[in-house]
Amino acid sequence: MSAAADWQELHFTAHKDQVKSLEDWLFARGALSVTLEDEADQPLLEPGPGETPLWDAVRLTALFAGHEDLAPLLGEVPPELCTQTPAAAVPVADREWTRVWEDQFHPLQIGERLWICPSWTPPPNPDAINILLDPGLAFGTGTHPTTAMCLRALDADLPPGKRVVDYGCGSGILGIAAARLGATAVLGVDNDPQAITASRDNARRNEVPDAAFPVVLPQDHLVADWQASADWVVANILAGPLVALAPVLTSLMVPGGRLLLAGLLADQAEAIIEAYAPEVTLSVADQQEEWVLLGGLKH
Ligand SMILES: C[S@@+](CC[C@H](N)C(=O)[O-])C[C@H]1O[C@@H](n2cnc3c(N)ncnc32)[C@H](O)[C@@H]1O
Repeated sequence: MSAAADWQELHFTAHKDQVKSLEDWLFARGALSVTLEDEADQPLLEPGPGETPLWDAVRLTALFAGHEDLAPLLGEVPPELCTQTPAAAVPVADREWTRVWEDQFHPLQIGERLWICPSWTPPPNPDAINILLDPGLAFGTGTHPTTAMCLRALDADLPPGKRVVDYGCGSGILGIAAARLGATAVLGVDNDPQAITASRDNARRNEVPDAAFPVVLPQDHLVADWQASADWVVANILAGPLVALAPVLTSLMVPGGRLLLAGLLADQAEAIIEAYAPEVTLSVADQQEEWVLLGGLKH
């Protein structure tokens, strides 16, 4: 351990079934935080609220204070808690995390009119539709292919004056974009309370009033009020939930309304097209990397 280190990290590899016990063990031994990442590049957007991982093989990073002697701890890691134990702690200098973000996130043009701009740089094109959005706890900064494909489709095809549902709104990025592109009413829905808060905060920062973009949990009465009234429904979730949500999403739409679904991989498209076939004829509208966007009109 370097004497100058402010923090130190231990990197473990574990199977998903071991993660909870390893986390508990590390916290009991003084870890200040434990973060989880995909070890094997297995695509998955994020776990649902309260869900445990995730990927089969997980990389755990445990953060400890810099002054702690972690050698005894490393000698005591129960072998049944991980598949790979670190040989040594990695010293970490105290970084200003906002600076790391500032280095990573830059203004991003998506489609013709939309720019997603972090707050720390002035929008490069003041005449564009600039959506101010900083990375936060809720998913959706525009950098993920699934979000980018939805934004491009909204930018290209959403006529003004429409009623739009952003189901699985996360940061609220799609709903905010729809409102700024001229939708008259937008409903945001998410089952994660953190996403509701993030969407509301982001909408206000983008001068989208609460009344123009209410954001609610799925069981809220507003979702019932919107039955059969949405001209567009956009949902960027994951293949499994998209199949399960088919009756909910299609019941929100007017006949002839447009549905956009993202969050699925190319080889998952067929199952989703089939699940929606009774109500909407979907086809692949876009593909970016291994992700596809499905689009179609309600019968
Ligand atoms: C991949 S993020 C998409 C965020 C944003 N719409 C975007 O395009 O970047 C998926 C969001 O869907 C939410 N979600 C997942 N399952 C859901 C469900 N069954 N009902 C409502 N929201 C759900 C998650 O909490 C998450 O915020």
